[in-house]
Amino acid sequence: MKLIAYDEGKRLFVLDNGRFAYTIYVNDAGYLETVYFGASRAEYGDIDCVRGAWESASPHYDVARGVELGYADKFKSDAAPLEISPHGVWDKRGAPVILRGADGAFETDFRYESYRIYAGLPALEGLPHAHGEGVETLELTLRDRAHDALLRLNLSLFADKNVLVKNVEIENVGKEPLRVLRAMSLQLDLPSADYDLVHFCGRWGKERDWCENPVHDGVQEISSNFGRSSADENPFVFLKARGADEAQGEAIGFNLIYSGNFKFRAFVGMYRALHVTYGINDEDFEWLLASGERFTAPQAIIAYSDEGIDAMSAALHRFVHENLNTYQGLGEHRPVLFNSWEGCYFDFDTARILAYIDASHKIGTELFVLDDGWFGARSDDSRGLGDWWVNKEKVDLHKVMAHCKELGMKFGIWFEPEMVDFDSDLFRAHPEYTLGWKEGRTELTLARHQFHLDFACDAVVENIYAQMKAFLEEYHVDYIKWDYNRTVAEHFSNALPPERQGEVYHRLVLGYYRLIGRLTAEYPHIMFEGCASGGGRFDLGTMYYCPQIWCSDESDPAQRMDIQFNTSYGYPLSAIASHVNDSKVAPYRTKAALALFGTYGYEMNPELLTEEEIADLAETAELYKKYHHKVIAEGTLYRLRAPHKCNYMCMQSVSQDKTASLVLFMNKLKEGDRFRFVRLRGLDAEKRYRNDFDGQVHTGEYYMRVGLNFSREWLQEFDCRRVLLTEAK
Ligand code: DGJ
Repeated sequence: MKLIAYDEGKRLFVLDNGRFAYTIYVNDAGYLETVYFGASRAEYGDIDCVRGAWESASPHYDVARGVELGYADKFKSDAAPLEISPHGVWDKRGAPVILRGADGAFETDFRYESYRIYAGLPALEGLPHAHGEGVETLELTLRDRAHDALLRLNLSLFADKNVLVKNVEIENVGKEPLRVLRAMSLQLDLPSADYDLVHFCGRWGKERDWCENPVHDGVQEISSNFGRSSADENPFVFLKARGADEAQGEAIGFNLIYSGNFKFRAFVGMYRALHVTYGINDEDFEWLLASGERFTAPQAIIAYSDEGIDAMSAALHRFVHENLNTYQGLGEHRPVLFNSWEGCYFDFDTARILAYIDASHKIGTELFVLDDGWFGARSDDSRGLGDWWVNKEKVDLHKVMAHCKELGMKFGIWFEPEMVDFDSDLFRAHPEYTLGWKEGRTELTLARHQFHLDFACDAVVENIYAQMKAFLEEYHVDYIKWDYNRTVAEHFSNALPPERQGEVYHRLVLGYYRLIGRLTAEYPHIMFEGCASGGGRFDLGTMYYCPQIWCSDESDPAQRMDIQFNTSYGYPLSAIASHVNDSKVAPYRTKAALALFGTYGYEMNPELLTEEEIADLAETAELYKKYHHKVIAEGTLYRLRAPHKCNYMCMQSVSQDKTASLVLFMNKLKEGDRFRFVRLRGLDAEKRYRNDFDGQVHTGEYYMRVGLNFSREWLQEFDCRRVLLTEAK
């Protein structure tokens, strides 16, 4: 199927995959008008939606001839939905790209020049990017009227999912250097502002809280300036048409394949239309572009659904699996993981770790991970970061790994590569590797006693790479947890001249990608898991390298339920790393059921488990091994009741072949006198399924029309039911 076509006569680009369509018109002034965005259509006869931009034209003066310009050049750009708004001229809605030339002027006015349509996606050097089959790209080239600069706008559409990938590249084709003051990856102008904006804000231990507000006049901005995507705001946001819900209505999701500062900006102006720009945050951003150089903005994702929010999420989930993550073991069963952190923190030696391995083996562990504390002088969180050599006095790693092998377990280890403690060999030898370090500074901000390394500097990245490489050559680990426990404060790099300090934030992210990209390429069998003080870098940039990301340090199911549920709006369950811990709020059975709707793992002192708890956990681990990959990792998720809307939560995942399904029901406050019939979704109406809740066999139609009855018992606080449905032949 042809996904992208150009009608020369109408000057109309049509991107249409049979379900979702996007059309762009090249107008007489050379502006690209976004004339349609929505469900696929049978025909594209007229140019849609050009709304009076010519009639309300603003006059222009021809300086050379001293006359007022004619009709063709009087296009009033802020009255039309555009792909790239100009800056420093009439349009004040917020241009996606701003350049400054040698004369200091801010004017930036890109007009259409040419196009190219090709199969596949652009490969972005140095940046994680989408890939895959069944996709076409429209590359539009625009030329700036104010500077010698070209802008390439890439739009890629998939045949089998309603996902559009967009980004811009800016090229300096002149002799003078240019300064890029803003380089947003996308602009999306919609004719109506009748939406609610949903975003996910939070903090440590409470990541991705549901926030929903009507889109209103003026500006709404969701952003991070912490140097990472952050726990404070997640880069995934979506617009929800009024009245839409999980199962019906229009939803438009946005995300960025990026891990640093971002800015999603929604502006509603005098025409009551919605103007969205999204990309790298332009706060303290300035990129010096020498003659012949290019700046590439990260890819932004738009997911479209006119069948409810769940269908938007499903498209994003499949996109991550099929077109983003690069881990070679993605299609395989993920091992049950045991992490040492919450069980013993820094307080361990070889004997204790060996005992943990033995005890964790009884609850089905397949991968044992030694977290923080194994390296340098790391006896607590105030020292050792930056010294990636094994503290052999504390732990005999060869012995630990050999023991895992004897039990048939894999072994993994923790790193925090972008950080340094002032009490470390690395800092003593190279204080100048510290971000913010400069002559004459009297103080520098600490967080968790540590500094951020200057990953904008190649020598620093090389140093950490060499240390990690030496470790990995000696210790053949199967897994790395890549942590990142502070945000950026003084964003100054010793390695860059004054005129390049506006590049620091972005260069830190590029340094992170360079290091993780190199290591994942050299050790493709190692599974990397992202982490940042819990879920502070839960984003698509990290997910390109890491098939799973630690979701939050909060494992108490009362909070965790919201965190996991909300994270799933933008990211697949198989990417949401979740562990059973020893919080006392709920029994292990409940915590295990919740962890099952993520990646499933453990984090506690396994020697303290009772026989009954061991049996419960081992049983869930067995269920995980048998059904998780098929039903959850590769299944389709349905949200039956959202915890932000009522006193309980219910979600369901169905295998692609619809032969099995898992349902998770979790109560919040104790409440026994309310009906809780939950209708399931996504089953085959004609198939018969046995459920292990009441042992009954019913047709898919029954479960979808009548539902499961969770109201027969008095449900306690955080009471939980996990139901498995399997096809009954
Ligand atoms: C923060 C992470 O979120 C934890 O899981 C743990 O790895 C600690 N860092 C270790 O310092």
